[in-house]
This record gives sequence, C-alpha cells and structure tokens, in this order.
Amino acid sequence: KTGLVTLDPGFVNTAACSSAITYIDGDAGILRYRGYPIEQLAEKSSFLEVSYLLIYGELPTAAELEDFTHKISRHTLLHEDLKRFFDGFPRDAHPMPVLSSAVSALSTFYQDSLNPFDPNQVEISTIRLLAKLPTIAAYAYKKSVGQPFLYPDNSLGLVENFLRMTFGFPAENYDVDPDLVRALDLLFILHADHEQNCSTSTVRLVGSSEANLFASISAGINALFGPLHGGANSAVLEMLEGIRDSGGDVQAFVNKVKNKEDGVKLMGFGHRVYKNYDPRAAIIKKTADDILNKLGGDDSLLDIAKQLEEHALSDEYFVSRKLYPNVDFYTGLIYRAMGFPTKFFTVLFALGRLPGWIAHWREMMNDPATKIGRPRQVYIGQTERDYKPVAER
Ligand code: SDX
Repeated sequence: KTGLVTLDPGFVNTAACSSAITYIDGDAGILRYRGYPIEQLAEKSSFLEVSYLLIYGELPTAAELEDFTHKISRHTLLHEDLKRFFDGFPRDAHPMPVLSSAVSALSTFYQDSLNPFDPNQVEISTIRLLAKLPTIAAYAYKKSVGQPFLYPDNSLGLVENFLRMTFGFPAENYDVDPDLVRALDLLFILHADHEQNCSTSTVRLVGSSEANLFASISAGINALFGPLHGGANSAVLEMLEGIRDSGGDVQAFVNKVKNKEDGVKLMGFGHRVYKNYDPRAAIIKKTADDILNKLGGDDSLLDIAKQLEEHALSDEYFVSRKLYPNVDFYTGLIYRAMGFPTKFFTVLFALGRLPGWIAHWREMMNDPATKIGRPRQVYIGQTERDYKPVAER
C-alpha cells in the first residue's frame, strides 16, 4: 500500500526497464507521478512543482520550490547566436523539427556542461532546458507568423512568460489571461510524464549510449512528432474539422472507421496501455467545458467531439477493442481556443513532457539497472544460404 512496489519476476522479464518515476495501471485507469495520483496533482499542484517532483523524486518545500523557480527564471534567455538560428528556417516550417533542431543545437553552446556523470553539469543542463524550451517554442511560433521575438520577462512565471512571448507584441503591453495560464499549467501537468511511452523510451535509449541530455531530448521530440503519438492532438482537430466540413455526419465517419476505409482511425482514441478511460482524458473533459466557455471555443467542434465519444462508447466495435478517449482527444480543442494553430499542439505536448523526459534520462544515468541498453530481437529472416553470382540469379 505504501513504500516501494515489489515486482513480479515474470513481469520483470517482459519489461523494457525498471523505473521509480511513474506508475500506470492501464486496466484500472490509474496514473501516479512518484506515487501521487494524477487527480490530486491536477487539482492541487503546479507544473513547476510537478516538474520538481518528477525530477528529484519528492514534492519540494517552499524554499526548494522558490529556489528552483528562481534558477529557471535566470536561464530563459537564448544565446543571441541561437536566436539567429531561426532565421534559417522557412516560415512554413513545422515547429517540431525546429524545436528538435534548436534543442540539439544547445549542446553546441554549452560544451562545458555535457558530461552526464557530473552532477553539477547535469543540474545546469536540466535548468537550462526547462527554462529555454518555452522560449524556443515561442520563437518558433513568432517565426511562423513573421512577428518580432519578445525577450523573456523574468518577473513572470514559466507558463505566463511563454504565453506572453508567444502572443505578446513589442509595440504594446500584453496582459496574460490568468484563466489561460491556469488551463495551460494544468494541461502541462497532465502531459508531464507517462512511463515508457514512445518518446520517453527514445530519450532513454539514446541516453543509454551516454549521449548528452540535449541530444537525448532532441531525439524524444522527434519521436513525439509522430501522428500515432504526440501528433495525435493535431490529428484530432483535423478529424473534427473534416467531419464538420463534410456536413457533420458523425455516424458516417464512424462507419468509415469501422470499415477501415483508407486506414482512417478515430484519432484521440485508443491506447497501448489504457484499456479503460485514460484518467487524463477524464480530467481534461471535465475542465474542457469550463475552459471553452471562458475562452470561447468552437462549440460546433466540441459538439462533434462529444457525439463521437457517445458513438464510440456505445458501439461494440470500439468497446470490444477497448478504445476509449486518450489524453489527446479534448486537448486540441482547448489549445485551439487558446489561440494556438493546429500544428503547434504537439509543441505544447513537448513542453509538458519535458520534465518527464529529463527525469527518465537522469534516472537511467544514475542507475545502470534502469538502462534500456541494447534490445535483442527474434530473427524471422532467411536461414543460412550461399552467395550466387549475378549470372545465376
Ligand atoms: C499518446 O504510450 C503512451 O503513454 C502515449 C501517450 C503519452 O502520454 O505518452 O499516452 C500519448 O500517444 C496517446 C495516443 C495518441 N494516438 C492516437 O490517438 C492515435 C489513434 N490511436 C491509435 O493509433 C491506437 O489506438 C494506438 C496506437 C494509440 C494504440 O493502439 P493499440 O492499443 O496497440 O491497438 P492496436 O493498434 O493493436 O489495434 C487494435 C485494434 C485494431 O483493430 P483490429 O485489427 O483488431 O480490427 O483496434 C483498432 C485497430 O485497427 N484501433 C483503432 C484505433 N486504435 C486501435 N480503430 C480505430 N481508431 C483507433 N484510434
């Protein structure tokens, strides 16, 4: 009930690795960060406090949180040469490769702090990443809309600073809506970690070669970009807009999915682990109405989303395959209501997932037993055979 979980030896043989960071029970729909239920953290904590918990293993004292917050606020600025880095990208570039390139480039600016076994260098790299990724993301947005970059304002909190750098202008004062800050802070908490998902496993695998933190996180960003993983939140919006633009016939779309026409899927549904309702989706759905009412979301898309969910939860095809809404199903509607373009939704996923990636990379570096290392395979190819000269083929 309390303390450390004991592992069933049989389970250990099938697991990719062991980890003490996040616990998921896919059948019961349970998610805990360092033992704390996601429902309690969503209600009572903040994104920075959850980041501290994931990375250092305990909830911070008031002094520890103040120190952590202060350290991060001192590293939000990008090196001016890295700022120029954005000039090289086309304006219509997708922000995810921009993000992974800029994060990888950080290792060229901080060559004196890349040693994964020097605690001080790991610490400063952790703080730099947490502080600079929001700035990099905001600059990727500003580049895409041809607007000037705003320097960070270190008197603001992390999420507020990100929103100001994204939607603010040098020409006038920009007051960030506190409802927007709270909503985004909550979404970042819900995305902060999720055990050995595709992108986190990528971070651990790349890090297992003793690659530095920036290189490993850059690889994780690339893995998250895939539409079956982090790209799903954008794909959900495109799916909802497609249903709306073709007349809003939800049943017709559901039939296409069931008939597997053109490989179409119900984006935002299903999960490798959750064979029950994703607890994050339940929290997001609960707040989606509130947030969208306050921010003025597109009700027609929310209505289509709710109709899709009703169809899926009552249709044997989806129920038999245990396909329930996952974390991505409602988030896109909220991000859109906040003013983000669809292709930026996965960037927001990456901002939320960053502390989890860092926590896993540090755990693996500190404990070789938790390394994924070098996975083996089951060979299913040709048995041995002799070479044939080209004249005999
Ligand atoms: C994330 O791992 C994590 O923790 C990830 C994540 C995190 O926080 O890091 O939670 C974030 O990636 C959430 C998932 C976001 N992706 C999507 O919403 C894309 C749509 N979903 C799927 O592509 C799919 O559900 C997966 C990949 C997420 C999970 O697939 P599963 O559970 O392994 O199921 P499967 O691929 O083995 O399919 C089983 C059956 C198949 O049908 P049959 O061959 O049995 O007839 O279910 C069908 C699939 O065709 N199916 C779907 C479906 N997902 C699976 N049919 C329609 N719509 C879907 N979404």
